[in-house]
Amino acid sequence: MQTLAQTLTSQAVKDSLAQLLLSLADTSKAISSAVRHGALAGVLGATEQENVQGETQKKLDVITNDMLKDALKAEGNVRGLASEEEDYVVEVSPQGEYLVCFDPLDGSSNIDINSLVGTIFSVLPAPEGELNEQSFLQAGRQQVAAGYVLYGPSTMMALTTGQGTQFYTLDPESGEFLLTNDNVQITPDTAEFAINMSNQRFWEAPMQTYIADLLLGKIGPREQSFNMRWIAAMVGDVHRVLCRGGIFTYPTDNKNPAKPFKLRLMYEANPMAFLVEQAGGKASTGYETIMDIQPSEIHQRVAVILGSRNEVDMCLSYHGEDY
Ligand code: AHG
Ligand code: MN
Ligand code: MN
Ligand code: MN
Repeated sequence: MQTLAQTLTSQAVKDSLAQLLLSLADTSKAISSAVRHGALAGVLGATEQENVQGETQKKLDVITNDMLKDALKAEGNVRGLASEEEDYVVEVSPQGEYLVCFDPLDGSSNIDINSLVGTIFSVLPAPEGELNEQSFLQAGRQQVAAGYVLYGPSTMMALTTGQGTQFYTLDPESGEFLLTNDNVQITPDTAEFAINMSNQRFWEAPMQTYIADLLLGKIGPREQSFNMRWIAAMVGDVHRVLCRGGIFTYPTDNKNPAKPFKLRLMYEANPMAFLVEQAGGKASTGYETIMDIQPSEIHQRVAVILGSRNEVDMCLSYHGEDY
């Protein structure tokens, strides 16, 4: 089996980018070890701090953020970084060619129940000149690489450099990420959906109708039964969609009118959209293709509808002509 390094070489990925991705992979091995030790390492539970998102940080949110920050600072090819757990963008190496946006620990509410968590990352080219928030505000289409690492029963990485989506599995013996699926393809059709149903009454009308039609099963307009899954960690839900198809959505809701969307564009929606598109799927807000959005701020949130191509199109058809 090919290692991650060998695959990046065979893809003719530029050395500086390959080095950066290998450094992210190495850090994720250390994160995987911290996650696996759990209570034994004293890493579970919450801190007393809040992040810029208004969430109480878990200890592991802070630990994993620091691990990634330290690794990217030592790396040399990174001009700047942005993280869910950092209020502002961070300047790294003046000569660096890349910007890295990351969610160090996705699904952090799962940590204390020993359930799925992961790390999500997006790599953008660094523009010339001074580094500031504006440098990062590039559409997802500009990403040169994106991926996630899932700390599940096995530790897996999904990665794209724009040449399809690949899965790697961490071999605990050799400590190498080995290529276990060289061309991930999302089935275009599906009978499985993922949404937090507890928000149903807060969704917009198109989403209400779309999900209601799925729930009607064989007696509804879809004339088939649909199954539902919700892991409460986007990494886990998107991984399932990449493995066996499905539609995943965190739609607009009016539970808190000041915060109509949950997921963050730069380090959740964009990297997942890149992986999904490279695997033949689709990713939209309902009205706009995720990767075509011109970002306006680093912690911007968006509605997300992604997964099996035909099912995403079906959902979009409920949203009217201008999607
Ligand atoms: P994070 O743990 O990085 O803050 O992200 C959590 C996100 C996402 O992973 C997941 O899909 C969603 O929150 C779950 O939301 P609910 O708690 O509303 O189910
Ligand atoms: Mn969070
Ligand atoms: Mn997240
Ligand atoms: Mn997170």
